[in-house]
This record gives sequence, C-alpha cells and structure tokens, in this order.
Amino acid sequence: MSENPTTPDSPVERTLPAPRDRGEPMFPGGPAADPAGSHHERRIRSFRPRRGRVTAGQGEALRRLWPQWGLDIDGLSRIDLGELFATEEGPRPGLPVILEIGFGMGEATVQMAAADPGTGILAADVHTPGQGNLLALAERNGLDNIRVANGDAIILLREMLAPASLSGVRVFFPDPWPKKRHHKRRLIQPEFVELAATRMKPGALLHCATDWEPYAEQMLEVLSASPAFENSQPDGGYTPRPDFRPLTKFEGQGLNKGHLVHDVIFRRNDT
Ligand SMILES: C[S@@+](CC[C@H](N)C(=O)[O-])C[C@H]1O[C@@H](n2cnc3c(N)ncnc32)[C@H](O)[C@@H]1O
Repeated sequence: MSENPTTPDSPVERTLPAPRDRGEPMFPGGPAADPAGSHHERRIRSFRPRRGRVTAGQGEALRRLWPQWGLDIDGLSRIDLGELFATEEGPRPGLPVILEIGFGMGEATVQMAAADPGTGILAADVHTPGQGNLLALAERNGLDNIRVANGDAIILLREMLAPASLSGVRVFFPDPWPKKRHHKRRLIQPEFVELAATRMKPGALLHCATDWEPYAEQMLEVLSASPAFENSQPDGGYTPRPDFRPLTKFEGQGLNKGHLVHDVIFRRNDT
C-alpha cells in the first residue's frame, strides 16, 4: 500500500535513464535528492525515500518549472508564504495557504486548487514522478496557486513555517503502515498533531482521510485527545465525505478493494 504510483503519464513516453550516484540530483536545478538529510537528526520517517520512474513529460516539467514553483525542504530557512506564492504581479501577503502532505500524483491537489484560486496550496511529497506530474498539471490548468515542496513535511512544519501561518492542513490517504511493527511510522501521531497545531491559525482545519479502518480510528483518537483541536462533527465522529474533496488515486484503489473511506476534520482552537 505504501508503494508510490509510478504509472507514466503517457504510455508512449520514454522513461529517462536510471538514477546515478546516491545524493546526486537527478535533475540539475530541480528537486534535490535528500534536501535536509545532512542537516537533521535521524528519525523514524513516515515515508520510504523513493524516486521512482520519471516519464519524459514529468522530467521536462521538473527541469523547466521547478525553479519557479518548486521548494526543497532543506530545513535551513523560514519561508515567507507571501513571497513563495508571488506571481508576476508581485508577492501575495495575506494569501491563505493550505499545506497538503503527501499529494502522490497531484490530481486531487490540482482540482482543489482550481476550485479555490484565492488559496495557495503548498503541496509536499518526496515522490519525484509525482512532483513532475503536479507541476505539469498546474501549468496545463493555468494555476498559479500551487507550490511543490520536496522532502519531509515534518521538517517543513518544524523548521520552515512560521507559527500560526497555515489556514489548513490536508493529509489524504497517508501510508497506512498496516504491520504492527511499522505503526510508529504513521504520520498522524500526537507529536505530529501538536506540531501542526503550532503552525495553524485559529479556526484552521486539519483534514485527514483514509481507507484503512484502524488508521481512521487512530486519527480520531489522536485528534480527539489533543487540546489544540476540536472535532468539526458535534457527535465527535467521522465527517461525511465532503463534496469538495476529489477522489484521489489511492482512494480509488482502496474503494476497488472494498475499503470504507473515512474523513476526519478537526478545527484548530483559538488558544
Ligand atoms: C499513500 S500515498 C497517497 C497519495 C495521495 N494523497 C493519494 O491519495 O493518492 C502517501 C504519500 O505521502 C507521502 N509522504 C509520506 N510521508 C510524508 C512526509 N513526511 N512528507 C512528505 N510526504 C510524505 C508519500 O511519499 C506518498 O506519496
């Protein structure tokens, strides 16, 4: 289940040559191989570092659009979100920004960004083909409100985003890590939730969705126990699937297997 999607965006496209030395950037001027690896502590991660097969179209998008819309999560500097989402007209101070963690191939990200052009979507993942796919989709759809962050979203939150800077956080179909010995890799844990809370504005929504029942229960339990959040559902349970969340690739795969999907939406408290 934690396999990343690697389907080429066109069956006739040629794949690029295999990766070379460890640590060497695959695309000069594009996303770095391990942007924060040398600066930060070793810690259990919620993802497997995997670059996957990059199609010619994705590679072209990475080379051409990364300098404009890409951000390496190197953990070395604080981001000015108004500057990050600047357009030809200049910076956009005050733009509401939502962080999406683990966008996969980015299809849902693009649909949500298109439906809400007045919100910036900071989309983070480690998956190189998905980064290229999302950049290409953003350009094809004429969207200037998506920025693609490469690396571990925990470092992005902890080191690079200012307190109370985010208008929302989305975590759609995070890797479920079903084996017991891997549960510690799950993203939605008390430490993550408390970190996210510090970076969210009062009233901002933390929206999670999963097709893995035990993980849905964990999400509900961890978020319900956090003093920083309150459930958007008065009955304290799952949120009915909201119309604004498009079907994601992993969700489709889960539904095909007969899995039930749960949305969990909590609001950041004022305190
Ligand atoms: C199961 S996939 C789901 C992708 C997409 N949301 C969907 O529903 O199709 C989970 C994604 O989260 C990414 N991911 C996991 N932990 C992450 C982290 N700490 N920072 C950034 N991305 C992460 C993985 O690389 C993977 O692409």
